Amino acid sequence: MLWLGTSFKMTKTRAEAAAYAARLKEAVGDGVEGVRPFVIPSATAIATVADTLGRDSPALVGAQNTHWADSGAWTGEISVPQAADAGARLIEIGHSERRAHFGESDATVRLKTAAVLRHGLVPLVCVGESEETRAAGMASATAAVLAQAAAALDGAANPRHVLIAYEPLWAIGEHGREPRPQDIAPVLAELAQLPVRGVLYGGSVNEGNAAGLLRLPGVDGLFVGRAAWDAEAYVRLLAMAAS
Ligand code: PGA
Repeated sequence: MLWLGTSFKMTKTRAEAAAYAARLKEAVGDGVEGVRPFVIPSATAIATVADTLGRDSPALVGAQNTHWADSGAWTGEISVPQAADAGARLIEIGHSERRAHFGESDATVRLKTAAVLRHGLVPLVCVGESEETRAAGMASATAAVLAQAAAALDGAANPRHVLIAYEPLWAIGEHGREPRPQDIAPVLAELAQLPVRGVLYGGSVNEGNAAGLLRLPGVDGLFVGRAAWDAEAYVRLLAMAAS
């Protein structure tokens, strides 16, 4: 089973997210052979997307972040039960943008992973080395990534329910570089040894490189940003993953 998902990051109104979900619902029907689609809207649109797809859709809806507490005085935060109530079945944790700008750390990633597992949702834990760490060589990149993954899984009751997304910082976003297979294959091979549900690759995935990335050993799926924000583009990626 290949995982193929996208995070909208901070884009799309509810109407735009609903239109996207309607197209996705039509494309996935009763399911896409061999592929598990998922879509992670902004918090404002989780319920909209979940309701448009239908709560038992083969396409999972996710949240981009969560707090580790179930409820309480945590202004601005959303708990796992609240995200689940809105229709989320998967929760993204520790994206590098959150680590860089919102104080996400290995410690909070571990707490959040445990909370998501406790509630039976799928944690999608993002790990990845910085440009500087990569410049110091493959061994330092691999060590940094494995340390992040180990921190997330530390004490996890059921690591086999966890998805890891390997997203090197130098590959993510507008200024990111498309990875060459030799840049990421050694790290993916190490991550593939972990007792987790699957390892996804993310960072400058597009329609031109997706098929090649999916063929890399240890890759159980792709986590796509910009190249999947248009529903038709995502549907084409789904068809590619299915073939
Ligand atoms: P990108 O984003 O595909 O736009 O590079 C990937 C990510 O941040 O998950």
